[in-house]
Amino acid sequence: MSTQGLRGAAVVAGLGAWLPPRVVDNEEISRYLDTSDEWIRARTGIGERHVVDPGMSTVDLAVEAGRRALDSAGPGAIDAVLLATSTADQLCPGSAPQVASRLGLNGVAALDLNAVCSGFVYALATGGGLIASGVAGRVLVIGADVFTSLIDPQDRSTVPIFGDGAGAVVLREGTADEPGALGPFDLHSEGELAELLWVAAGGAKQRTSENRSDYFLAMQGTAVFRHACARMAESARTVLDKAGWQVCDVDRFVGHQANIRILQVAAKQLGLPPESVVANIEHTGNTSAASIPLALADAVTDGTLVTGHKVLLGAFGAGLTWGSTVLTWPDVKPG
Ligand code: ACO
Repeated sequence: MSTQGLRGAAVVAGLGAWLPPRVVDNEEISRYLDTSDEWIRARTGIGERHVVDPGMSTVDLAVEAGRRALDSAGPGAIDAVLLATSTADQLCPGSAPQVASRLGLNGVAALDLNAVCSGFVYALATGGGLIASGVAGRVLVIGADVFTSLIDPQDRSTVPIFGDGAGAVVLREGTADEPGALGPFDLHSEGELAELLWVAAGGAKQRTSENRSDYFLAMQGTAVFRHACARMAESARTVLDKAGWQVCDVDRFVGHQANIRILQVAAKQLGLPPESVVANIEHTGNTSAASIPLALADAVTDGTLVTGHKVLLGAFGAGLTWGSTVLTWPDVKPG
């Protein structure tokens, strides 16, 4: 899917991120599960994650990140809100209209997009399409998940990995040659492998189950790991080729924060130097659709990502889904 060659390019004009205040470190998890700080750090690179307090939902996180992105972008009408999430507040309807209302954007187009951990990159492409086709001039794209709501608190293979959070960007219409212009994109899926990473029950196919674990994420970690490394590297090569960039042109690789080893292996397969890899997973865990905008916001805040850097975004998630895009980082800071 490419948004090139249509009306206008989508340009990043604002950035925001938000993490719920409660921090759960590896020691806390090790007190109730058979695991350790040493194992979790060595296998995943995660030291702690943020987790919602009871009553706090995906809409709450999305509103906080969305508001910060709107502040960062400054004044101007928003025509559409896209919410990348796989943990909407209700099974039906989608949560984007509630997010839009709470942000004072009642009446705008608003929809959820579920590509799990690839959701943010898919939503950037979709937002770019709305702009390129003239449907919208400015789009708020949010990635938000309370992914811990899908995790069995007794499952040591998934509890340490996931956290909650939200991140967002404002896209505006601009030109393909200006800093912040997104694209090209490379997006893929492989539904035959859905069972590698899914929640079996609760949806239309199996509303209820007598097996409690069917309501939680089941993950075949090693297979997911292998696919994630290979697909992210493959997609990155495709998108760099489409963009006319060499690997050595990439200053920063901002990949989905699933596991530090996945990012390192993908970077190595691509031939990217370790210092180009942006990683905040130590403090966030895997926040699913929120992970890329959260990593962008942290990297801008700590000076790892600066105006003019050439950035490769890469995502991989359940579905399976994966995808990439590129941009030159504009003069945008988190709000
Ligand atoms: N603490 C201690 N031991 C553990 C834990 C734990 N928390 N979890 C698993 N183990 C054990 C296993 O039982 C296994 O024991 P065994 O050898 O006696 O059977 C051993 O550790 C090794 O397990 P592996 O699964 O081989 O460990 P691996 O090095 O593959 O790491 C991990 C596991 C971290 C899950 C890794 O496979 C991974 O990161 N996979 C990708 C997961 C992922 O990214 N998922 C999200 C995708 S994005 C999305 O859309 C949601």
